[in-house]
This record gives sequence, structure tokens and C-alpha cells, in this order.
Amino acid sequence: MLVTSVVGARPQFVKLAPVAEALAEAGINHRIIHTGQHYDERMSQAFFTDLVIPAPDHNLAVGSGGHGAQTGEMMIRLEPVLEQDRPDWVLTYGDTNSTLAAAVVAVKLHLPLAHLEAGLRSFNRRMPEEHNRVLTDHASDLLLAPTQLAMANLAGEGLGAHSRLVGDVMADVCLRVARTAGAAPLPDGLDPGAPYVLATIHRAENTDDPDRLAAILGALRAQPIPVVLTAHPRLVAKCAAAGIDLGGGSLLVAEPLGYPDMVAAVRGAAAVVTDSGGLQKEAYLLGTPCTTVRTETEWVETVAAGWNRLDPELSQVDTWAAPPRPAAASRDLYGDGHAAQAVAAALTSAG
Ligand code: UD1
Repeated sequence: MLVTSVVGARPQFVKLAPVAEALAEAGINHRIIHTGQHYDERMSQAFFTDLVIPAPDHNLAVGSGGHGAQTGEMMIRLEPVLEQDRPDWVLTYGDTNSTLAAAVVAVKLHLPLAHLEAGLRSFNRRMPEEHNRVLTDHASDLLLAPTQLAMANLAGEGLGAHSRLVGDVMADVCLRVARTAGAAPLPDGLDPGAPYVLATIHRAENTDDPDRLAAILGALRAQPIPVVLTAHPRLVAKCAAAGIDLGGGSLLVAEPLGYPDMVAAVRGAAAVVTDSGGLQKEAYLLGTPCTTVRTETEWVETVAAGWNRLDPELSQVDTWAAPPRPAAASRDLYGDGHAAQAVAAALTSAG
């Protein structure tokens, strides 16, 4: 059996790591296509190196662009590769433009399509990620869901018969890396041992409107303790375009971190402020309370458990550095770290 994974953006490389290992352990032939959506060393190659992921068999080098141009170029470059290999499964990950491009090409070529992280919903149709995951779920032959809620969402859309609960592969890699991660390399000017907030902001809804972007950065600058902002290239580009200075006040701007360093930085932080999906969950897994600067989250379990809260209106800025911490010690909502083996088993039994 041949499984071809299609990935392109940073969080997809993280999910690919445990899946590639589990497929190899199960003796499944696996090829990797990198669309090139993310291409900076710190956004791409660093993850393959740190997480010991096999080098991609193909890099389509598509790069950045508008949604149509980027997704269309990926489809143009994916089609001949998938047609030549004709894998038994095209495996897609999450909700990026790379996922949607692979889904459309696979169904047009009549290749079986599996979607990992199926069934997540924000119910916010203004998010590009929501279009990508809904369209991919409805094109897929096998829906690999991380949570019971994702399974319920899929059943509600008539997709229950093709859905399997496999757990969350990001928990696999996060828990494993946390066992060996050392101290985080934090920016100059930060006292080792002093409390800090770890922040990331990159979503279109927070970066594309200069007023919104300025308000979020102003709130981070005004925090009473240092804020380490690991800056996604999209944030840097949008600030430059809007003439907004990224630093100032409590803000210490850092380059994007590799995965083990990010795990260490989250674990060592007093609090996380983010609009990233993955980071909300990593904060939960590592026991750091999180504020999410969005109107909704796909990872509602983290909110229900008291480790995460939504602050779209920036009305809780006063407690971003010291959010409430739940009393419950257990943090096992996303499985015990063996979801990738369940993915390999589901692909084998459904193939
Ligand atoms: C993409 C995903 C988003 C995911 C995020 C993780 C879509 C629609 N969005 O958003 O779901 O949460 O990845 O990071 O697929 N850039 C660089 N170097 C890079 C990559 C990007 O400079 O290596 C800059 C470019 O200015 C580019 C911008 O970042 O235009 C946005 O990149 P893009 O891949 O379009 O979307 P992300 O914001 O990264």
C-alpha cells in the first residue's frame, strides 16, 4: 500500500512527524509531497530537521500568493505527480490551502482521499481555514477525527459512515518532544527565570485590518511582564505594510521558533496569548493557561476545561499575563500520544 502525504505549512510538518513514523513502523510505503506553501528555513526545513521527518519526495515550491493563485498553482503542480504515483491513499492534514489543493486534485483523479483532523469546525465562514476543512471533509473517503466533538460534527453533516475517531496526532508529538525539550532560547533582554507571556498572532482576521492589528499589539505592549512575540512572517509583512512598529513597551520580538524550542517556551511561560489553533492545544497539554484572540475556537474542550478563554474584543487584556488557572490536574483530552498508530491502522483497514 502506498500513502502519499501532502503538506505545505508549518503545523502540517508537526502533524506529519508522528504519522511518518507510524506508517514506517506499520510497513506502509509512504511518500511526502511538500507544496512549498511555507518555505523560509524557520517555517519549513527546521521542522524536518528537528522532528527527524524524512525529506519530501517532491517539493513543488509554490510559495506565497493570493488564495486562488496559490491553491491553483498547487493543483497544477500536484496533478502530474499524483497521476504518476497513483497512491492508494492521498493523506491531507488540517485546513490549509495545501490541503484543499490536494483534495481537489485527488478526487478529480479518482484517488482515495483521507483527511486528518477532520470534523473541526469554527462555524465562521469568513475564515479561509473553515472553507478549506469543510470542502476537504466533504470530498474525502476517510475522515480521521481527533475528538468526539469532531465525530459529532461529521455525523451532523451526513459524513458519519466514513469517519473514524483516531485521536490527536499533535498531542503525540507535543507530549513526546516535551519529555526531552531543554530550556527555551529566549530573546536578549529577558531575565532568565522571570515570568513572561508567550504570544503569537498571524491569522488574517487579526493581521489584515491595520486598526485591529495595532490594537492587539498595543494590548501586548501594555502587559505588566515581558511578552515574547514569536513573529510569523505574515505578521512582519503586515506590520511593515501598515507602518506599524512591532516592538515597544513589554514586547520582545523573536524569530519563529523550532518545535522543541516552542514547546520549551510554552512550558516556561506564565501565560500564552495567541490566535493559533495548535498553540492553544499545546498550551493546554503543557499546563500553561491561554487566552485566544478569536471569536471562536475549534478546540472547545480546552475552554470547557478552563485552560483557554476567548477574547475577541480584547476585553480581558488586564489579565492576559495572569489568566485563571483551573484546579484540575489532568490534561488528557487529546489522547495518550498514540493517535498516529490509529491513523496507520485506519488507512490499512479502510484501504
Ligand atoms: C497558513 C494557513 C493557516 C495556518 C498557517 C500556519 C491557509 C489559508 N492558511 O497561513 O491555516 O494556521 O499557515 O502558519 O493555508 N510567508 C513568508 N515565508 C514563509 C511563509 C509565509 O514570508 O515561509 C509570508 C508571506 O508574506 C505570505 C504570508 O506569510 O504571503 C502568509 O503565508 P500563507 O502561507 O499564505 O498563509 P499563513 O498566514 O502562513
